[in-house]
Amino acid sequence: MSDKKVILTTNYNDLSCELPVQTPTLGREVVNIQSLPKQLDVFTHDPGFKATSSCESEITYIDAQKGELLHRGYPIEQLTQKADFLEVYHLLFNGEMPDADTLSALREKTAKLSLLDSSVKAIINAMPESAHPMAKLGTAVNALAANYHDEFDAKSDESRLLAADRLVAQVPVIAANIHRSGDVSCEMNPADGYAKNFLRLFFGEDSATANDETFIEAIDKLFILHADHEQNASTSTVRLAGSTGTDVYASVATGVAALWGPAHGGANEAVLNMLDEIGDVSQVDKYIEKAKDKADSFRLMGFGHRVYKNFDPRAKIIQGICRDVLAKTGGDPRLELAQKLEEIALSDSYFVERKLYPNVDFYSGIIYSALNIPVNMFTVMFAIARTVGWVSHWNEMISGDYNIGRPRQLYTGYTKRDLYT
Ligand code: CMC
Repeated sequence: MSDKKVILTTNYNDLSCELPVQTPTLGREVVNIQSLPKQLDVFTHDPGFKATSSCESEITYIDAQKGELLHRGYPIEQLTQKADFLEVYHLLFNGEMPDADTLSALREKTAKLSLLDSSVKAIINAMPESAHPMAKLGTAVNALAANYHDEFDAKSDESRLLAADRLVAQVPVIAANIHRSGDVSCEMNPADGYAKNFLRLFFGEDSATANDETFIEAIDKLFILHADHEQNASTSTVRLAGSTGTDVYASVATGVAALWGPAHGGANEAVLNMLDEIGDVSQVDKYIEKAKDKADSFRLMGFGHRVYKNFDPRAKIIQGICRDVLAKTGGDPRLELAQKLEEIALSDSYFVERKLYPNVDFYSGIIYSALNIPVNMFTVMFAIARTVGWVSHWNEMISGDYNIGRPRQLYTGYTKRDLYT
């Protein structure tokens, strides 16, 4: 800790206090307020956590002004160019890139762990066919606890790694089973990368998509781009659930639930639905006005971000992937529509003043759609990728010093009163 301090003085009593300032390796300094209740007899109030650092982490850094995203120090642009998804998983979880032997062992282990227990498939199939895939995914991930809870030991490094590897291996197989009504019996092939294995399980062995290098590369890059994003809503949910000491599979299932929302991972599905609703370039101005109208609940989905106030570096990379994929599959009028929306929004003072830019979800749906992935599976695609972030953050927390997450509140209800006086 540095010797910098914040000195806080109240204007309503004679109390004042000194709060230590912690210096990160990158980014804003952090005022440690943990002694405030003791020193000033107050809590801090920060709904939506707009000014709160909830933990120490070495995994991911975001520079909001520069539009920079680093995983363990490596820029996202370099990772999408030079690494594959399993390497990025190893990097996030362990802190360094794997060497060739470690990577090959990880591929073997992932393949071995990818066989899904028949009880999980039965649970997927027991749900209504029409149920949203994110409902099925959350239920299936929770069901892994039914199979593996007893062997899990949070204090053992090996046990935590096995659970994390199993989740990374099985979530894509669960996704494929959701898509194919529990009909996926093959496991991953260690000779192939994670993205190719996923496409093979999802579309079938002989599908053209699973054997096309452009599509495999596109999915691998999309997985890398969605792998982690520091203390976002779903990762914070996994950490909070995990801080009670609950089962790891149950913790990750809470991440799936939080990701589903349209303000978070559900935005990719919402963007495609929005583009379909707008329908035509001639309607863009009308929808831009709707997005600006505070009386209208319509928001420009895929726009804005809690952290980025310049641009989302992932969105830039996704635009390139989108061009490559559509060059092969043929155009999509929704791309033209999305580009028009972006162009108008970026020159409109409402969006400029509020620093609202396209985020990671604005173009990803157009790519998934070009690959014939159903719209209601888009957020499941996000969840497959984010599983590596969830398990990495959960492991970082569980293997270090942590307390149960237990916020306080600003109580605004009744004062004490008597019943039936
Ligand atoms: N369309 C229209 N206005 C917007 C939008 C939007 N997409 N996003 C924010 N605003 C306005 C908002 O109304 C507010 O205006 P004012 O200051 O006049 O009240 C201002 O911009 C600040 O917005 P906020 O809601 O206070 O910002 P936030 O940090 O709480 O929310 C967000 C961030 C991502 C939830 C929000 O921008 C949003 O709802 N975007 C659309 C959904 C979306 O694309 N989500 C994916 C996020 S990236 C992937 C991920 O995290 O999973």
